[in-house]
Amino acid sequence: MLSYISAKEAAEKWNISQRRVAILCAEERINGAMMVGNMWIIPSTAEKPIDKRTIRYEKQKVLELKPFVKWVGGKGQLIEQLEKYIPADGEKVLTKYAEPFVGGGALLFNILSKYNFESLYISDINAELINAYNVVKNNVDELIKKLIEMQLAFVPMDENGRKYYYYTARDRFNSLQITEETAVEKASLFIFLNKTCFNGLYRVNKKGQFNVPMGAYKNPTICDENNLRNVSEALQNVNIVCGDYSLSKEFIDKNTFVYLDPPYRPISETAGFTAYNADCFDDNEQIRLARFIDEINLSGAKIMLSNSDPQNVNPEDTFFEDLYKAYTINKVDATRAINSKGDSRGKIKELLICN
Ligand SMILES: C[S@@+](CC[C@H](N)C(=O)[O-])C[C@H]1O[C@@H](n2cnc3c(N)ncnc32)[C@H](O)[C@@H]1O
Repeated sequence: MLSYISAKEAAEKWNISQRRVAILCAEERINGAMMVGNMWIIPSTAEKPIDKRTIRYEKQKVLELKPFVKWVGGKGQLIEQLEKYIPADGEKVLTKYAEPFVGGGALLFNILSKYNFESLYISDINAELINAYNVVKNNVDELIKKLIEMQLAFVPMDENGRKYYYYTARDRFNSLQITEETAVEKASLFIFLNKTCFNGLYRVNKKGQFNVPMGAYKNPTICDENNLRNVSEALQNVNIVCGDYSLSKEFIDKNTFVYLDPPYRPISETAGFTAYNADCFDDNEQIRLARFIDEINLSGAKIMLSNSDPQNVNPEDTFFEDLYKAYTINKVDATRAINSKGDSRGKIKELLICN
């Protein structure tokens, strides 16, 4: 008689994630796999399917995922446009995805919701952000517990109570170094501050201390438990690295789709979009990045890079045209704040540079 094992057991046996087993079952790549209730069961004799090395999981949603932090420069509003430029099925054999400037990961989570890359790499230079990604990946239960505590304490308070709570949390966040012991607390404070501070900004002073004032949200969602759990599961396949984008070179090869979303080159004198941390992403940095893109282009990777279009304010400015002569430069519509106060929003163009 045929015996069956659960998706969890198959995942352990084949050394892949449970989510990947579910995807393989849904793709009918495991002979005899059946859905019982809402769980897959797999014949105990089934072999691990051979790597088909196709780019994507047929557009069937596995998990609904969204960024777990708000992030300046986040690409949430541009997703539909970005999706049009994701390399199409069959165009190339792509099995890996890299996003070296991940930020809030708007495209990452869209990709993790819909596509089936076998291995993924994300990085960012912001150590607090990357600590939060790691904690969501490895310690989501503890994190959720702390966030629920904060939500229950903070949301019912009046304005003065909230202020006291917020600035105490901010001091605590600034007083802690990231260590194994403090990682979860730091991540919970980071997410709390992100959800309650002014515009979800991340800004530090010269000493590296987070200094954004409290925002004015009536009913902020500090703990979106469902999304955090889904994100945690989806991150199991993802290498998470804190550091410069150039470290991703080791990971990137001809089977990789790479999306790069560096800090903007400011589109006006005062826009100040580049102030993520002490190190500004100036023109020299944009040039260093272009050289890096030339290198990974040679490796055969499929590349997509976004940036602001300087011609929104100065039609004569050909900085990116000169830098990316060898690439295709697409201009797509974007809506975002175009001054430092964030109160002047308008339709502007964004560059999407592809090889
Ligand atoms: C425009 S944001 C990315 C936004 C992201 N696409 C999203 O949807 O939220 C740029 C990110 O690059 C990071 N960054 C800046 N310099 C970097 C570097 N040298 N290497 C890696 N990441 C860097 C910043 O910390 C920031 O999170």
